[in-house]
Amino acid sequence: MIVENDFIFNQNTALIDKANFEWSAPSNIALVKYWGKKDHQIPANPSISFTLNHCKTITKVAFEIKNSDENFSFDLLFEGKPKEDFKHKIQKFLERIEVYCPYLKKYHLKIDTKNTFPHSSGIASSASGMAALAMNIMSLEKALNPSISDDYFHQKASFLARLGSGSACRSINGKIVVWGEHAEIENSSNIFGLEFTSPIHENFRNFQDTILLVDKGEKQVSSTVGHDLMHNHPFANQRFNQAHENLSKLKKILETGNLDEFIKIVESEALTLHAMMMTSMPYFILMKPNTLKIINKIWKFRTETNLPVCFTLDAGANVHILYPENYKVKVLQFIKDELVGYCQNGQYLCDEVGKGSQILI
Ligand code: DP6
Repeated sequence: MIVENDFIFNQNTALIDKANFEWSAPSNIALVKYWGKKDHQIPANPSISFTLNHCKTITKVAFEIKNSDENFSFDLLFEGKPKEDFKHKIQKFLERIEVYCPYLKKYHLKIDTKNTFPHSSGIASSASGMAALAMNIMSLEKALNPSISDDYFHQKASFLARLGSGSACRSINGKIVVWGEHAEIENSSNIFGLEFTSPIHENFRNFQDTILLVDKGEKQVSSTVGHDLMHNHPFANQRFNQAHENLSKLKKILETGNLDEFIKIVESEALTLHAMMMTSMPYFILMKPNTLKIINKIWKFRTETNLPVCFTLDAGANVHILYPENYKVKVLQFIKDELVGYCQNGQYLCDEVGKGSQILI
């Protein structure tokens, strides 16, 4: 089993003066949700997600060696402009990964980052953002130690990204990624995401995710606070057990292609996530009236057409509509005819399953 200490870099390696990299990393959408964590970003239950293709963060990092290695030093540009509010998050991230990447304090980092999805669309950018930064750091590490394998590169990138934001560890590599130990998934780990390598039924090839932007406002509750509320939550244990069971079921579904069963698990997971929020103390509701209107429309459409279309939700009001590629034309027409009116400024994003992070330079 791979443990935390396996990711500690050997301090005696010679440094290089400067290096530049650029990576894109996608967002991901969980099918079995991560909600609840232990210390050091260890998930309370295993989760599984589809990696997205178009909703991405693109991050360039220029590393330049400096004289003092007392503090971290970095500049941050977001969409070409300095962004002070992100600096705190990055500082905290660098502190968390320091022991695994001790070389970082010896460099000044110029971080230049942007998202392909609209600014403040309510889409979590922490997963793609942390994943893209972790990939750049691993490129530097590979330049310092070219002998590391591709597997190690991806595992450590996912391990580092997790320390920035839990779900970010699922945005590194693979179309479907599992994070968290699960009895039936060999090598599954609490400390990094693992590509789901069982044969996947063709029904799930190029699966579509159309994201309806219902509410682009600031989240009322950050994920971190939300996860915390699973401590002493009255239904926590039942929920964590249920996630293990749902992942077992989903593993078979992904192999056999049973779309009816897929829909049941995915929608139930989304509603359970929100049920956990509604039953914690303090309690909160992140769905908006239009979220419920959309869900009801999807159910009606499904009953009337028999098409295998379902929804899932993140910790917010936006709705992800999931469906097989061969129904794309019909589902997009349904969205245009019946759902656009519930989206803020009529906005929605068309995405589909993608492969993971990609190097650009
Ligand atoms: C509801 O990964 O944003 O999207 O680890 O505190 O950064 P932190 O939380 P985060 O939580 C995401 C939770 C979720 C479900 C999921 O993606 O599995």
